[in-house]
Amino acid sequence: MSTLEDIYNSNAVHWESYARQPGRYLCEYFTIFKNISPTGNGEGQCLSNMRILDLGCGNGDISIESLRRGAKFAVGIDFAENLLSRAREIANEAGFMESHYSFIKANAFQSETVFEQLPLETHRETFDVVFLLWILDYSQTYEDFKRLIQLAASYLKPGGTLMILENNHAVATNTEEVNKKNKFGDWVCSNPTWNVDHWQIENTYIDPQTQRRNYTEHLEIFTKEQYQEALQLAGLTLEKFGPLELDPRYSDLGFQESDFCCLTEEIGAYYHYKGVKH
Ligand SMILES: C[S@@+](CC[C@H](N)C(=O)[O-])C[C@H]1O[C@@H](n2cnc3c(N)ncnc32)[C@H](O)[C@@H]1O
Repeated sequence: MSTLEDIYNSNAVHWESYARQPGRYLCEYFTIFKNISPTGNGEGQCLSNMRILDLGCGNGDISIESLRRGAKFAVGIDFAENLLSRAREIANEAGFMESHYSFIKANAFQSETVFEQLPLETHRETFDVVFLLWILDYSQTYEDFKRLIQLAASYLKPGGTLMILENNHAVATNTEEVNKKNKFGDWVCSNPTWNVDHWQIENTYIDPQTQRRNYTEHLEIFTKEQYQEALQLAGLTLEKFGPLELDPRYSDLGFQESDFCCLTEEIGAYYHYKGVKH
């Protein structure tokens, strides 16, 4: 059976078309940059001089977007080498010098592999922002979840921001609501450019009786209380959480609601969690 690393490696070529959907820009980027920029508007060079760490960076899109918004250094960590090499290409094509970024291979759920690549002796509490975007649901247990948040926190400066995007527990575990809306599946599972069923791989299954998609326990989605506790244990305060926010300028930008269909308005399936280090 393929491992998750194999799956991401062999689908790296499809990742961009999968990930770069309008909802990504209009909801994810909007929510992220608004919440991490000191000015609170996420515009222009809002991350000026910041150091960014992106755990589970995929093809590096968010790290590279952070550089575009003024960050002085971005480190992306992932275990899929094919995504990492794509990240290096994209950063290079965008004109950033190699001294401004580093995309390195390590297993985020095995802290020691990350410490080998990014030793704490030199990197402890040196990052202004750490991203955990769509990776925490790969935690096999709550212990894994807490360890990954602890790892992120150890690199964060006091006053720095941990930005997490994840599924909303209340929606993702309520298959009735998901099925009723019948959008979760459409948007995530049936994307023609992703040649495997992303969520099926992550252990959802089709109930043979109802032919509806259900979740099994592997794709772990944690509650707000668990986030709160894990952040607190890692020396962070959960300052904000809630659905992704939609850029109100979307129609001026030439989009309509059906373009992004990212569920945020309708059922709040995707959440952001903002932690601040004490
Ligand atoms: C859903 S993708 C999200 C990618 C990126 N954060 C984004 O938002 O575009 C999950 C990413 O986490 C990576 N990943 C999953 N488990 C990992 C692990 N144990 N160590 C490092 N990376 C991992 C995958 O290779 C993949 O790039």
